[in-house]
Amino acid sequence: VADLSSLVIFGITGDLARKKLVPAIYDLAHCGQLPAGFDLVGFARDAANSEPVLRESVIAHARRPFDPAVWQALTQRIHLVEGSFDDPGGFTQLASLLAVLDQRRGKPDNYVFYLSVPPSAFATVCGRLAVVGLNRPARGWRRVVVEKPFGHDLPSSRALEVVLAQYFPPSSIYRIDHYLGKETVQNILALRFANGMFEPLWNNRHIDHVQITMAESVGVTGRAGYYDGVGAARDVIQNHLLQLLALIAMEEPVGFDADSIAAEKVKILSATELLGPLDQTSARGQYGPGIDDDVRLPGLTEEDGFPADSSTETFAALTVGITTRRWAGVPFYIRTGKRLARRTTEIAVTFTPPAHGSPAARAAGVSNVLVFRVQPDDGIELHIGAKRPGGGMQIQPVSLGMDFRSVFDPAPEAYERLIGDVLRGDGTLFPRRAEVEHSWRIIDPLLQHWATAGRPGTYPAGTSGPASADDILSRSGRVWRTL
Ligand code: BG6
Repeated sequence: VADLSSLVIFGITGDLARKKLVPAIYDLAHCGQLPAGFDLVGFARDAANSEPVLRESVIAHARRPFDPAVWQALTQRIHLVEGSFDDPGGFTQLASLLAVLDQRRGKPDNYVFYLSVPPSAFATVCGRLAVVGLNRPARGWRRVVVEKPFGHDLPSSRALEVVLAQYFPPSSIYRIDHYLGKETVQNILALRFANGMFEPLWNNRHIDHVQITMAESVGVTGRAGYYDGVGAARDVIQNHLLQLLALIAMEEPVGFDADSIAAEKVKILSATELLGPLDQTSARGQYGPGIDDDVRLPGLTEEDGFPADSSTETFAALTVGITTRRWAGVPFYIRTGKRLARRTTEIAVTFTPPAHGSPAARAAGVSNVLVFRVQPDDGIELHIGAKRPGGGMQIQPVSLGMDFRSVFDPAPEAYERLIGDVLRGDGTLFPRRAEVEHSWRIIDPLLQHWATAGRPGTYPAGTSGPASADDILSRSGRVWRTL
């Protein structure tokens, strides 16, 4: 059970808070997971009359059905403070409100500050909290939650750490990467280490290559303010996809506690580097107009808020290698894109074909692939070859599958899980500073390469991305899995 606490969300009316955070808190309330002394304080310039907006967003985005009684009870615990981040008045009001809530519920000053704001506002918000004395606990604790991407490259990420460290001790900083809150992602470690049969094969003698794909069919409509100038590599590769890589490639931790897992993730990320030459091992693109089911989809530069000459990439693919004895020589191909043919996030581990593979198997194109399907249809799939009934030895690729939803009850949404963890003070699923910085170190050379290479080419919305992405694999006789 979480401590009695107040969760303050800066940017309560922003996109993330409306679509993910407030619905997750509602879901926690719905299943009785919020501690009795919990209060939610929303801070934003337009917070004052935002209750109907928050209600609508719960109706639209919560996992559980809307229950007016649950919402009604929750609104008793929601307090909205109107203020801008550089306005001292709002912070004074916040400090008095928190003191009143502590007194009313008889709780110590346990505060979570969730910075659902652009990183450029971190310093201002933290500085204002310090001015009103909110950064230092008297009897309780402080936890600060920051969203990704944390900075826009390694130097800016380090600078943000310096800012946070001025006000809060390192152990109180929770860097959110919501992919780590997904059950299927946590299952990677269970599958690898709770079973004896995979680990002996988990190396460069038996694995040919690994593909990590995060494809989205949605575009970036309505998100220009955040996305323009950020792009696909910073938005999801630097964080979500390199975290997936770390979990797939890391050594077995000595325990499943936060420190042991972080230690192994840091080690593997520190041995990970881009493979070059970059113009052959990476690709990027920007979605142009396309057609899906007879509906015309706009190109990025036709979306509201994007300049006609935007050079923001909406598709990125790259190749990394890991310089350890286990992984030397195994390419890890990573790709992501918006407005692709369908939505899928998966990790596919392709095993090396048998050295004396039967001619029939080779002719049938059997390839042993272990697929972790993160979403949708989360599950695990193993592709093997089997004999087709009848005369002769005709081999056919078939797959063995496990669908999580047919075995387990629906899991909490990632944000529901992670907010619960912050309230409990469990940092296991939050990347450490060193992980974030290694991830920037890995992709920075590619970002620099692109920064001097002009605008990306376009790919039609609703397709599998730019052809240049296929060239990355075809040079070594491999192909991407079909989207
Ligand atoms: C976010 C990115 O971190 O993840 C978005 O900023 C992306 O651009 C989203 O759409 C995808 O999350 P999920 O959980 O739907 O895969």
